[in-house]
Amino acid sequence: MATTLLAFFFLFILYFFIQIQPKKPTTANNLPPGSFGWPVLGETLDFQRSRKDGGANKFIRGRIDRYDSPLVFKTSLLGERMAVFCGPEGNKFLFANENKLVVSWWPKAIRSLFGKCLNTSRGYEAKWLRKIMLPYVGPDALSNRYDIVMDVVTRVHIQNQWEGRSEVTVFDTVKPYLFELACLLFISLDDPTHVAKLGSLFNTFLTGIGSLPIDIPGTRFYYGKKATNAIKKQLIMLINQRKQQNASSFEDLLSHDTSAVSITLLMKSLGEHPDVYKNVLKEQMGILEGKAPGEALNWEDIQKMRYSWNVVCEVLRLNPPVIGAFREALVDFEYAGYTIPKGWKIMWSAAMTHKEEDNYPNVTKFDPSRFEGTGPTPFAYVPFGGGPRMCLGKELARMQILVFLHNIVTKFSWDLLIPDEKIEYDPFATPVKGLPIRLHPHKV
Ligand code: HEM
Repeated sequence: MATTLLAFFFLFILYFFIQIQPKKPTTANNLPPGSFGWPVLGETLDFQRSRKDGGANKFIRGRIDRYDSPLVFKTSLLGERMAVFCGPEGNKFLFANENKLVVSWWPKAIRSLFGKCLNTSRGYEAKWLRKIMLPYVGPDALSNRYDIVMDVVTRVHIQNQWEGRSEVTVFDTVKPYLFELACLLFISLDDPTHVAKLGSLFNTFLTGIGSLPIDIPGTRFYYGKKATNAIKKQLIMLINQRKQQNASSFEDLLSHDTSAVSITLLMKSLGEHPDVYKNVLKEQMGILEGKAPGEALNWEDIQKMRYSWNVVCEVLRLNPPVIGAFREALVDFEYAGYTIPKGWKIMWSAAMTHKEEDNYPNVTKFDPSRFEGTGPTPFAYVPFGGGPRMCLGKELARMQILVFLHNIVTKFSWDLLIPDEKIEYDPFATPVKGLPIRLHPHKV
């Protein structure tokens, strides 16, 4: 038994070493300041700790200060030599140079879990996939097909899951509802048992995203990969049954989590800021009163929710659900006076950019008025990324969040049962207890 365990341990260490051994040192001598950290591990552990606790902001800010280098520093993460580009200048540079100097890149765990899809594609293939997906998630689909369905499904959800209850845990309630909605919109699936089974597979898949790519039984990655295969099998079966042409269903369904997180964080902020809640309620009641009794929300109504959208933007500024993304250098290039060698990976961070006093005076204050007029300076607000790889589901997410917000604030106010509930990234920003609240229905 002891020998087996020892052999297993040895294999594990060997595998780990091979998977995350940093690449050979580069010959370029004008690299950005920074440290590659420990052999093999680099600075991954410090990064993972900080990522969970506030979206890696501490990790990035700490190094900017240590090396007195506000634009870029080097590190080694997930077995890769990496440059971290900081702030609006870095975001602008990366978004403007996609397919020229840099190209989209994701860590191995994400690449193997996602398999071949838009997120993991590059260059011409990515452009082509975006074109195929757009009819399912773009403004045409939203204004002509999804708006009324979304409102009707949301009303039924609130009737079944919120009305008559005094306490609700927001994330746990909103997440299955958005998954059901995505199943209905993208694969016309409305059988509750089937939806629940697929939803549970997606949850297992998501827990694998932030893990190390160690494919042995017992790891989050192993179960994540098994779940991915099962999901893809089921989706192919469903798509064949319905003879649908939706090539993007995997990403469309996956995306429900970022919207669920955003709604949860929005409800948290409204619970913390009664004055903002009051202004949102006023705007939403104005829209409700302009409609016939029972008439569904449509695309035009969504466009009127300007204050409410500013509130959502401020929520996504303070806690961007996705902390940022990665690129790979296609050639050696210069940035901020330093050489970034070909093959190096580059990280940009929404979490860091959004928390800079230079970009947002009084940075920790919740202030939706930052988004009035022309809003923040260009490339200082990037919860959806930017450039040719900007989030394809931004408009869909906007509609999901605003339709839910309309239906919930016109029926309830609420108190947070855990004041200052901590937010952790795993992999998306979520209150640790799922945001339990006490509901107060409006008196009619
Ligand atoms: C509030 C909710 C959401 C946030 C904060 C968000 C954020 C992001 C971010 C940061 C990226 C990476 C951009 C980059 O690499 O530069 C991304 C990519 C993407 N998102 Fe979203 N997203 C959200 C909702 C959605 C929804 C609802 C969909 C539904 C289809 C979606 C589909 C995608 C796709 C397909 C990509 C890959 C685009 C590409 O690589 O070309 N997202 N998203």
